[in-house]
Amino acid sequence: AGTARIADQLLHWYDRNARVMPWRVSPADRAAGQRSDPYAVWLSEVMLQQTTVATVRDYFRKFIARWPTVQDLAAAQDADVMAAWAGLGYYARARNLLKCARAVSALGGFPDTHAGLIALPGIGPYTASAVAAIAFDRAEVVVDGNVERVMARLHNDPTPLPAAKPRLTAYAAALTPQTRPGDYAQAVMDLGATICTPRNPACGICPLRTPCAARAEGTAVSLPRKTPK
Ligand code: ADE
Repeated sequence: AGTARIADQLLHWYDRNARVMPWRVSPADRAAGQRSDPYAVWLSEVMLQQTTVATVRDYFRKFIARWPTVQDLAAAQDADVMAAWAGLGYYARARNLLKCARAVSALGGFPDTHAGLIALPGIGPYTASAVAAIAFDRAEVVVDGNVERVMARLHNDPTPLPAAKPRLTAYAAALTPQTRPGDYAQAVMDLGATICTPRNPACGICPLRTPCAARAEGTAVSLPRKTPK
């Protein structure tokens, strides 16, 4: 199948199956003109690094209730933010969070490009891509573990991780559409989290079951391969 058709199939599936998350604008609300809050997108992406969606939900709500804007967070006491972060782990993330909030506040708001975002303290390539795509609908390539798994299976690529990363990123780049790239990025993540799962992929109900090369070969559950440590 052509890449445009695959992206369309994913977006069509996402329109019906997007998970509801407190930082997300639903496809229907976005169609009605609602914009994402870059602060909410950024905060959620930082929290979701190495922490599950289930755990992040309550922490995200707590942070947004206490510090509703990036300016509020920038003005917070370090100790209050560290205490609110307790339980999320990886405390360097909380320190970087504050550094970044203060830089954004000094700029008067979030930069709306990948280049502007990656120049901020504590924002790496993944977060810059995710915020540019989800908050600003930039056609950035967003690759996390879910996306790597979906790409390895779609292409039935036996190259083990981490060597496979550049190829999987290239597959993801080829699929990223110019229209609705933010919804598309979240659609691939949701597919990886709910259908194209590591152990028991639900290939029978997958919106990409027709073009998926691993589904055709019966290899999905074995992909992506990993080089033993
Ligand atoms: N994991 C990281 N970012 C995510 C997002 N925006 N939606 C779903 N899962 C995610």
